[in-house]
This record gives sequence, C-alpha cells and structure tokens, in this order.
Amino acid sequence: MDIHVFTLFPEMFRGPMDESMVGRAVAGRLVSLHLHNFRDYAPDKHHTVDDTPYGGGPGMVVKPEPLFSAVEAVLGPVPSCPIILLTPQGRPFRQAAAQRLAQFPTFALLCGHYGGVDERVREHLATEELSIGDYVLTGGELPAMVVIDAVVRLLPGVLGSQESTAEDSHAAVLLQAPLYTRPPLFRGWQVPEVLLSGDHQAIARWRRQQALLRTRERRPDLLAEAELSEEDRRFLQGLEP
Ligand SMILES: C[S@@+](CC[C@H](N)C(=O)[O-])C[C@H]1O[C@@H](n2cnc3c(N)ncnc32)[C@H](O)[C@@H]1O
Repeated sequence: MDIHVFTLFPEMFRGPMDESMVGRAVAGRLVSLHLHNFRDYAPDKHHTVDDTPYGGGPGMVVKPEPLFSAVEAVLGPVPSCPIILLTPQGRPFRQAAAQRLAQFPTFALLCGHYGGVDERVREHLATEELSIGDYVLTGGELPAMVVIDAVVRLLPGVLGSQESTAEDSHAAVLLQAPLYTRPPLFRGWQVPEVLLSGDHQAIARWRRQQALLRTRERRPDLLAEAELSEEDRRFLQGLEP
C-alpha cells in the first residue's frame, strides 16, 4: 500500500511512524509512507503557503495553489485514489472507514494548518473529509497518523499470527470483552472461572455476552448498529428490569 501525506510538517511523522506496527509494516515494505511538504510546491520565491482570510477575521488560511500543485505533481492531474482532507468538519473517522481504506492500494491525506484550508481544496481536490473527533487540533498531522495507524494494522501480515483484529472493539461494532492474563489471582482479584475452564464453547459464549454487556453499558448507541443473533437478543432482553 502507498500512503501519500501532504503536510507542512513532515518531520512530525518521524518517531510515531517509525515504531511498532506501522514501523514494522514500513520496514517490511508492506506499506510505503510518502511524506510531501507542500511548501515545496508554493509558486512564489518565498514559498508562501498561507494568507489572510477574505472578508477579514483571525487566523491564516492555507492557500490552494501549493496543495493542488503538490497533489497533481505526485499523483497526476486526475488522481484516481481517495484524497482525504483531515478536518474537524469531516465525517467522524470510525473503524468502518479504516476497513474501507485498507482495501485501497493507494490513498492520500491532506493535512491542514493555521485557521484551516481554502474551501476550494475541499470542493475540488479532496474526495472526502474525515475528522478524528469533536475537538480542534493545531494541524492535520496527528489526525493523519491516527488514520494511518488504524488502517495499517488491518493490512494482512502487519499483525503477528498471535494477534487478530477480528475481536477488537468496533471491528464488528461491539466493544471487546474484558481481557485477562496470568496470574489467575492478583492481589485477591480472581480471573473469571470460565476463562480457566478450557471449555471453548463456554468461553466464546461468555465473551459474546460480556461484549454485549459492555456495549450496552458504555456505548448503547452501537447496539443499534450491531448484527445480533436471536441468542444475543434473548440475552439482552433478560437484562431488562
Ligand atoms: C486549527 S485547525 C482549523 C479548524 C477550523 N478553523 C475549523 O473550525 O474547522 C487546523 C487544521 O487541523 C486539522 N484538524 C484539526 N482538528 C481536527 C480534527 N478533529 N480532525 C481532523 N483534522 C483536524 C485540519 O487539517 C485543520 O485544517
């Protein structure tokens, strides 16, 4: 997979993108991360990338020319891959979006900065807009890293054979059941007996019920989206007062 990031701060990616799963995926050539400083594509001799907003107001606005020129120089005049503008005004980035992006051989991320990006980038360059949450960050670099991490760990061969993404929270909408490891008794706190029983069917049932319970307690909004079996529904109905 090729991921192109258009940013004014490529150095921010060093470190987070060199470590752990993403670092391993890059080192193992499962992913190529291409960092493009769009300041290099600003047409004037001072490489200006921002200007004051038309109509007045605080903050500077990222100019359209450097971003358009950078994307077109790298991806061609009519790019065929998703070009994602990171913006707090975008669609919330969720696991389903990570799963969708993981299917593409190439995608691009546009990182805004200052007070935001000229609207014509959103209208005529980006193919979609993603937000990583209802808060405002200084720039699109951290959101881009969040998207990259969430996508890359889904690629075949990135996680070790012992690890799986299928049971993760949000993979199939529900939150994951609680996890325990050795020792079975820690400071008087016991691991649930069923997990030590070796009865795989009973363990699977317990995990499913815990996932349903957890989701109902913490994120009842997700229950409406989840695919529930008759058994799941009976279990949830049994919890009603
Ligand atoms: C300070 S923000 C600009 C916010 C803009 N004034 C607004 O109210 O929509 C600068 C840049 O950070 C990035 N950014 C900030 N918060 C974000 C979020 N929650 N999700 C995705 N990108 C974000 C965007 O690329 C944005 O252009």
